Amino acid sequence: MEYETPLFFHVMEYADRADRDVIDMVSGNPDWEPPQALRDGLHEYADLEPDQFQYPPSDGLRELREEIAARRGVDTEQVVITNGAGEANYLAMARALERDRGDEIVLADPVYPYYPGKTTMLGGTQRFVPTDETGHLDPADVRAVASEETAAIVVNSPNNPTGAVYPAETIEALVEIAEEYDAILVSDEVYDHYDLSGTFSSALELDSEHRIVTNAFSKSMAITGFRVGYAIFPPDLVENAKSRHMLVNVAGSRPSQYAVLQALRETGPAYYEQNRELLRERVETFTDALDAAGAEYSTPQGSFYVLARFEDYPGTLENVERLIDEAGVAGMPGEAFGDSRRDWLRFALVTPRVEEAAARLATYFN
Ligand SMILES: Cc1ncc(COP(=O)(O)O)c(C=O)c1O
Repeated sequence: MEYETPLFFHVMEYADRADRDVIDMVSGNPDWEPPQALRDGLHEYADLEPDQFQYPPSDGLRELREEIAARRGVDTEQVVITNGAGEANYLAMARALERDRGDEIVLADPVYPYYPGKTTMLGGTQRFVPTDETGHLDPADVRAVASEETAAIVVNSPNNPTGAVYPAETIEALVEIAEEYDAILVSDEVYDHYDLSGTFSSALELDSEHRIVTNAFSKSMAITGFRVGYAIFPPDLVENAKSRHMLVNVAGSRPSQYAVLQALRETGPAYYEQNRELLRERVETFTDALDAAGAEYSTPQGSFYVLARFEDYPGTLENVERLIDEAGVAGMPGEAFGDSRRDWLRFALVTPRVEEAAARLATYFN
């Protein structure tokens, strides 16, 4: 079987190899500071005794799981520390499929490409539900494709790539559908701290045996390289997930978990608010310039991506490479996110050069 590998790393490498200055708006790597307590935790770790350099518990440092459980209002046993939200999603989707209640995974289109990739890898089948033009998902459309074959519905809010933040009613309705068809709602909330709209609603607010919530510190603490995430399972589903995690990874990274625990304990809301404020400014700067360039675009309610459409410039990989070479701006092809955004390009607001990038686009397309 051939797996479809998401294009992110390909485009990043292409941009790196270009023999001109390129503004990187490809990756989801924040360019802002991590919490100070995270740096302090890492420094401290370097001087610990050798026993602290050995395997942590497979399901994660106990204190980190306790800290997360207390904050999220769940039992510590329900929390599995993972290798980022990526592994959390993998464990959640695998767990849904191995229940043998169908092999279909319902996904939104546009979609974060790792979901369909993981679906194929796990032997499942994708069922896509188109969102509206603002990226919102109508639960009635999900219900229309749901059946006894549905193993899971996988959603992401705040959303990559649309920036949509699903209201509480959507999440509630999706949990209901999952319950009705004995399926699992997998709610990927990795951008929860980047809700710019104040309307974010976590699936954890609902009590259900049919939902798994995934998350990570990758984005919230600006540490995508640390690889610390987590999944929160219903009590009856957690044991198999822990076994799978152990068989695949043995355990996670101890220094990363140690530093994240320190940062979680010591970082107040001001840190997260400051990052949201930075993003708000960048959204404004970038979309103002897109207006000037005559482009159509999405204004994100959350996450840190903007989808833009330029006339006669579809979002193909070829056009993305041309834009890197000729305009010096690197984005992601819309076609990487499914059929519905083929005409669009996605730009990540993870560079201080947002204004310059927008100016380059305006010059190039005018
Ligand atoms: C929607 C979504 N889920 C998961 C991930 C992966 O997160 P992590 O780096 O924590 O594995 C990303 C990264 O961009 C993402 O956008």
